[in-house]
Amino acid sequence: MAKELFSVHRLSKVFPQGNPGVSALNLTIFEGECLLITGSNGSGKTLLARMLMGLEDPSAGEILFRGMPLHKTVDALRRAVGMVFQDADAQIVGETLEEDVAFGPKNLGCSKGETNIRVRAALTATGLWEKKDFPPRRLSGGEKRRLAVAGILAMGGEAVIMDEPFANLDWPGVLQVLTSIRQLKTAGKTIIILTHELEKVLALADRLVILHKGMIREAGAPEAVLDRLDPVYGVRDPRRSYAAVGDCTWLTE
Ligand SMILES: Nc1ncnc2c1ncn2[C@@H]1O[C@H](COP(=O)(O)OP(=O)(O)OP(=O)(O)O)[C@@H](O)[C@H]1O
Ligand SMILES: [Mg+2]
Repeated sequence: MAKELFSVHRLSKVFPQGNPGVSALNLTIFEGECLLITGSNGSGKTLLARMLMGLEDPSAGEILFRGMPLHKTVDALRRAVGMVFQDADAQIVGETLEEDVAFGPKNLGCSKGETNIRVRAALTATGLWEKKDFPPRRLSGGEKRRLAVAGILAMGGEAVIMDEPFANLDWPGVLQVLTSIRQLKTAGKTIIILTHELEKVLALADRLVILHKGMIREAGAPEAVLDRLDPVYGVRDPRRSYAAVGDCTWLTE
């Protein structure tokens, strides 16, 4: 039986305006699984991810990280879990790409030599090594996202949370991120992906969760969850193929 990495119990977050960001979420995330979480805009994906990282306090309920209340184990959590933020700009910390990616390993206490090895491997895996001396703020949106992925690869943690990791990426960029995800999976890491772009990554997922208006409406094996899709969730079943240009639309009629 796989160990529990996170267990979320009746987790709610209500904002002052009365907007229930998420309500009464129950979810167990197991070590080594690849969990996809989807749902329409505003369904609570980013909020849940931020709460898992201890960046947002719940209004009610609790999150356990390896069986410990999250607020008592924030240091261990930050060492073990890396997050790619939906807003790639929010994550830039260095003056060059190399410096930016080195930030994580240095903070973890890696030696200079070890840091250099990790930085080179992470920038190479994300196709950014040639730009290592470039200022991150001048990267394109997609390149910034690749940089954020490189940052968590270099940290070498046990788990990653990726919030819209494919946003703004071109095809090679998507392939690079997917290759990294597959490598993380092979290495036995826990991977939590929050995305609208199910078609890109569904084949790598062990479980699929559908959030709707801050509530978990479906959770389970991806195939079974998709079979139960309700149009109100605002999630499109990606199990369709395009044979010709004329098929290439997401309109259903
Ligand atoms: N700081 C905040 N103050 C007030 N409301 C907030 C705050 N943060 C999030 N919310 C609300 O919580 C709900 C969930 O937001 P969240 O960002 O988690 O959605 P999401 O599923 O990630 O959406 P998207 O697909 O657009 O990224 C939204 O209705 C949002 O307006
Ligand atoms: Mg979001």
